[in-house]
Amino acid sequence: MFEVYEPMEDSLLLEKHVKKYSRNNVLDMGTGSGIQAIAASRKAEFVIAVDISNESLKKTQKNIENTGIKNIFVFKSDLFSFFDKPREIKNIKNKKIRNFLLKKPKFDLIVFNPPYLPKDQGIKDKTIYGGVKGHETLEEFLSQTENYLKKDGKVLIVFSSLTNKEKIDEIITEKGFNFKIIDQEKISFETLFVYSIKRSEVLESLRKKGLKNIKIFAKGHRGLLYRANLNKKDVVVKTKLPESKAKGRIENETKWIKKLNEKNIGPKLLFSGQGYFVYNFVKGEFIVDFIEKNKKKDIIRILKDVFMQLYKMDKMNLDKEEMHHPLKHIIVDKKPIMIDFERCRKTKKPKNVTQFCQFITSTSMEQLLRKKGIKIKKHEVIGYAIDYKKDMSKKNLNKILNLLK
Ligand SMILES: C[S@@+](CC[C@H](N)C(=O)[O-])C[C@H]1O[C@@H](n2cnc3c(N)ncnc32)[C@H](O)[C@@H]1O
Repeated sequence: MFEVYEPMEDSLLLEKHVKKYSRNNVLDMGTGSGIQAIAASRKAEFVIAVDISNESLKKTQKNIENTGIKNIFVFKSDLFSFFDKPREIKNIKNKKIRNFLLKKPKFDLIVFNPPYLPKDQGIKDKTIYGGVKGHETLEEFLSQTENYLKKDGKVLIVFSSLTNKEKIDEIITEKGFNFKIIDQEKISFETLFVYSIKRSEVLESLRKKGLKNIKIFAKGHRGLLYRANLNKKDVVVKTKLPESKAKGRIENETKWIKKLNEKNIGPKLLFSGQGYFVYNFVKGEFIVDFIEKNKKKDIIRILKDVFMQLYKMDKMNLDKEEMHHPLKHIIVDKKPIMIDFERCRKTKKPKNVTQFCQFITSTSMEQLLRKKGIKIKKHEVIGYAIDYKKDMSKKNLNKILNLLK
């Protein structure tokens, strides 16, 4: 049985934003006492309020009657199920609402304060259970939301840190949306988050281009990577984090990868668009893992290859900027492929080769290479790196390469 969810801190926190965001046609999912529907009704043309529980619907109806509001319409629905019941919709007396709901309804704003607690919290009220893990109802809601949201529509949700926030972030993204945390509040044992969610234009245009199974792959300081399939091949999509304020970085990286691809450097760029680029997934191992597992001869071949690529970059006056600590920047399969050109920039004094010298002479690398039978003569490498810095010639590069044995 369901009880009615009397407004709590989460309701009040969400209500504040519903008042701000509501416009035209609003859907209040899981209306409970009707608090969000009432808040939305002031600015909306009309509000459709639904709930799975009869008690909630009765309560909402009573609360609406008490306020005298005329533009809220209440229906029983398990998530969006009511919108698929034309026989019931045809019985709605209000013509405008009947017609709106008969033509696959799309809303400007959808509000949901979902039941979000995992079952093991020991709380008896079933209006707040979101499933065994807590996020299942929200996940199901987000799987269907796309069908009921206008192109520029927004979704507001509130949930607690007692639910797995990372998981919710992942679900939102996997369903093709972007989110912004627009409010948060600490209450006794939990933090409440209010999210504003909208369609991700990037993900939408990627789907149109045929990308399938788009899943979050890695999150950096500014960039967000997705893995996906394109014509049965694995690809990676790089976009900026929705919350990142940095401008033009994706465009910058796309430009340099294009140029570097001409010299066989970097992952193969497939195509790019506003705010994203797509490249072939680079399989292999990060450089240190590769060194740990391979033999002297192969390690030397790979290190020399990296040096050659870095030399080409030096000659292009491009600085990758992170080559003194490239642990996650070089992936080795048959050959080494550098990834992540986020900080790449044009400069008169590129430091790619010299930074890589710093890397291979670092204590941990020196030890690792020694274990593999490669003795790095630190002082000689540094001496030749200084010569190279003064004159970035092939001859000076070769002096460094000749020390790798
Ligand atoms: C946390 S309460 C929120 C109530 C109210 N919107 C508020 O902000 O105070 C969650 C509400 O969702 C309703 N609900 C739970 N599962 C639902 C489902 N599958 N479809 C529709 N409503 C559901 C519950 O009955 C409950 O009223």
